[in-house]
Amino acid sequence: MKEFRLFFSLIMFTLFISGLEAQENAVEVIEKYRPQIHFTPEKNWVNDPNGMVYFNGIYHLFFQHSPSSNVWNEISWGHATSTDLVHWKRKPIAIYPDSLGLIFSGSAVVDKNNSSGFGKKGQIPLVAMYTSHDMKKEKAGKIDVENQSIAYSVDEGETWIKYSGNPILKNPGIRDFRDPKVFWHEPSKQWIATIAVQDHISFYASKNLRDWNKLSDFGKTVGAHGGVWECPDLFPLEFAGHNYWVLLVNINPGGPNHGSATQYFIGEFDGVNFACDFKQTKWLDYGPDEYAGVTFSNTGKNKILIGWMSNWDYANQVPTEKFRNGFTLPRKLGLSKINNELFIKSLPIENLKKIEQSSKKINSLTVNGTSSTFPLIGNIQTPSKFELRFPPENFAIELVNKLNEKIIIGFNKESNQYYLDRKNSGITDFNKEFGKIVYAPRFLKQGDITLSFYLDKSSIEVFADNGLSVLTSVVFPNETFNQVNLKATGKLIITNFSYTPLYSIWK
Ligand code: FRU
Repeated sequence: MKEFRLFFSLIMFTLFISGLEAQENAVEVIEKYRPQIHFTPEKNWVNDPNGMVYFNGIYHLFFQHSPSSNVWNEISWGHATSTDLVHWKRKPIAIYPDSLGLIFSGSAVVDKNNSSGFGKKGQIPLVAMYTSHDMKKEKAGKIDVENQSIAYSVDEGETWIKYSGNPILKNPGIRDFRDPKVFWHEPSKQWIATIAVQDHISFYASKNLRDWNKLSDFGKTVGAHGGVWECPDLFPLEFAGHNYWVLLVNINPGGPNHGSATQYFIGEFDGVNFACDFKQTKWLDYGPDEYAGVTFSNTGKNKILIGWMSNWDYANQVPTEKFRNGFTLPRKLGLSKINNELFIKSLPIENLKKIEQSSKKINSLTVNGTSSTFPLIGNIQTPSKFELRFPPENFAIELVNKLNEKIIIGFNKESNQYYLDRKNSGITDFNKEFGKIVYAPRFLKQGDITLSFYLDKSSIEVFADNGLSVLTSVVFPNETFNQVNLKATGKLIITNFSYTPLYSIWK
């Protein structure tokens, strides 16, 4: 009898646990807007990606996170890891606020030579530098609200210890002084921190990641200045055998399509000054929903960027509940020259091929006025990827659902612009800035247009001309898009149309 009871309890316990597990897994499937090919924490608020670093075969993504609220609050560093940048493992919160303030954005580096001295007995420490943001001082109207602090990990990023001498870099008397991005500069054998200071960037140097001295400033009179400068990044990118230096500067508001966006400068960095031959403001992504984008540390020449997939215009209001906001697909950055001017191109990383199901391909598709691809490719599913090639004529592709809600992606020959229209894409009324059409210039001067885009449950990321013109947008349709319509002003032939359903990264 005793054995029977024990056996019975065991069975009940197993059923209970598997029920819980099923519920856990179901979370990903049931939630209407839960991204299926992008990382999101299980619950609550996120903004900027932070401390992205590659170490011992693992990519670490830290991020601005409210541990117990779905709006911006009590900002800590959340944590996730991945071995392929496609599938993610959610980890416990890495760094919590303390008496110096909230844990604002920053970066992490692998301190291979233990220059910081935080590693004991041959350990290689990971060192994170972030902004301590003091809310009490902010409320009291003080200036010195933001100071830089460090924390280190000697267990491969699992746990973090704050340095007892924080803050290590004090506020120079400017209210906005934040988001340090650190890298090792081999020619001058020192660490460089790129810091956003209201309307410009300041560069600092250090031999040990604790003591910093100022090198120079950049940007007061160049680039876009419609808002505060935030989350910078400085790194080299090779083109035609030359190492150029790219400076990313996120700005909010003042983006090309309202609100937050990432601008960039391409120039030279000599270990002290960044200089660039400025001709025009350049944007990494013209869509409304790529912000705070910065690159992974310790990936060599391979520069991979992840951005926050939202916009400060409405980030606190988007109609999700359990989680709020997420991240873009990881994108590999490169340079391209057009009419003697350099531009960044960004494309989703190759590893995403891992989640591709078999594609439906059409080699030549004639569009005359409006045509529906419905009979050709059938119902489409989310997540999925589309690729197509067509001459630079007026053209639009619409993703439509049963309620006639749609996203329209198009090219306008006259204005030489790509556009993304989410006016009638589902829930749009939570903010007046949301339901709009956004535009991106076409930089490529000749040849066919190549377009690829990734559709997820609540986002679309469009890459034109091999990543020269990019448009990222979140969307909240009331039903999934199931049909594709193609539209041209006259007769247009699409070559290499392909539709690829994608596997969820959570299954
Ligand atoms: C950018 C930003 C950063 C800051 C963080 C606070 O989105 O404003 O400048 O460190 O968010 O969460």
